[in-house]
Amino acid sequence: MEKIKALKGTYDILPEDAYKWDYIEKTAKEVCRDFGFDEIKIPVFEYTDLFARGVGDTTDVVQKEMYTFTDKGGRSITLRPEGTAGTVRSVLEHSLLAGALPIKLFYLITCYRNEKPQAGRYREFRQFGIEAFGSSDFRIDAEIISLAMEFFARLGLKGLTLNINSIGCPECRAKYNKALKEFLAQKYDNLCPTCKTRFDKNPMRILDCKDPSCGELVKDAPVLLDYICDECQEHFAGVKHTLDLLGIEYNIDTGIVRGLDYYTKTVFEIKSDSLGAQSTVCGGGRYDGLVEQLGGHPTPGIGFGLGLERLLLTMQAQGIEIPGKPKPKIFVCELGDKAVDYGVKIVADLRKKGISAVRDCMGRGLKAQMKYADKIGAEYTIVIGDNEIEAGKCALKHMESGESQEIILNEIDKYLRKG
Ligand code: HAM
Repeated sequence: MEKIKALKGTYDILPEDAYKWDYIEKTAKEVCRDFGFDEIKIPVFEYTDLFARGVGDTTDVVQKEMYTFTDKGGRSITLRPEGTAGTVRSVLEHSLLAGALPIKLFYLITCYRNEKPQAGRYREFRQFGIEAFGSSDFRIDAEIISLAMEFFARLGLKGLTLNINSIGCPECRAKYNKALKEFLAQKYDNLCPTCKTRFDKNPMRILDCKDPSCGELVKDAPVLLDYICDECQEHFAGVKHTLDLLGIEYNIDTGIVRGLDYYTKTVFEIKSDSLGAQSTVCGGGRYDGLVEQLGGHPTPGIGFGLGLERLLLTMQAQGIEIPGKPKPKIFVCELGDKAVDYGVKIVADLRKKGISAVRDCMGRGLKAQMKYADKIGAEYTIVIGDNEIEAGKCALKHMESGESQEIILNEIDKYLRKG
């Protein structure tokens, strides 16, 4: 019978790699704890309307990339393409904003986008994201960016570039959109069909169209940063000042518009020089209008999403070794029927003491048991047979050094090195 394969753009995390994800997630959690962010877990699917309203119905994500289906109750449901909209929905549903502000949250989630798969771009991918609600202070913008940088630093990453920009508030945007439309008017006929619909509704979206011919047309388009109002300029100056204060290097990239509609003022992207075309490891920014747009009181917000596959690819490209590959502490080799019963009890006893202990479950001979112990990377082995049981003693072998010592069978745990 033909074997069923995983869907294009999805992949399995096999046991030999799973610990790497644990390590990255553990590091993310530790950094978040140090910055005062708490974890939130949100559903994989939501009403489609949440993303249409939150992410924006003229974005590529909503127009082209969502996994949307009708459930048995006739509801339109979408697999989350990102985490911000769901987090805002949850924060509002549970009135978290009624508590002490700011509300600082993080999540580790899978996301789903029907994009063309390539290196660093998947249809199911993982994000580490953070969101802070309630503060319009420019210092929190810098704090959010510094959290991402600290996370990268703790993982030992190098060669990352932070690019920042301001895309202003709705008032700046109105002025800018007018100028952009004037610029694009002569090029209208050559825009892709999607961008033609964007021209009136949301011309800024044309700037990040993935169609290369649209990219060519907008090359000399007016720059949003030239149109931002005094207040937005002051805010941006404050962000830059705070980044300077923290010693975080950055470039101003006036080309950053971000692919989602909710952004206001500060936007940023962190790129890795170890990746190919999909080099943006982290993207985020301020979204001061989103909470209101999703039915809450006006509340500023800011956050980022960090692609964990791209992060891991960068770590691998930079040869960063990830600690924590789980290996059994001890393998118990058994010789004879009596020893098998004894071995079953020994491993059970060690496991109760929190020591990872493994025995043969295949009825193999001693040589094959040892070979298997070596293969699974057991730190120690013991061999028990009738003689050992009678004497109450056995030889404990440290596999790496090959050193052996005689130990008391009932006290194995006392002889094992910690860790
Ligand atoms: P985003 O820029 O759409 O922003 O995604 C954030 C990161 O997720 C990207 O920089 C990239 O590393 C990763 N990513 C996106 N799409 C894929 C894909 N198909 N395959 C692999 N990795 C991918 C957001 O999602 C916003 N919610 C971020 C945010 C949070 N802004 C404010 N708060």
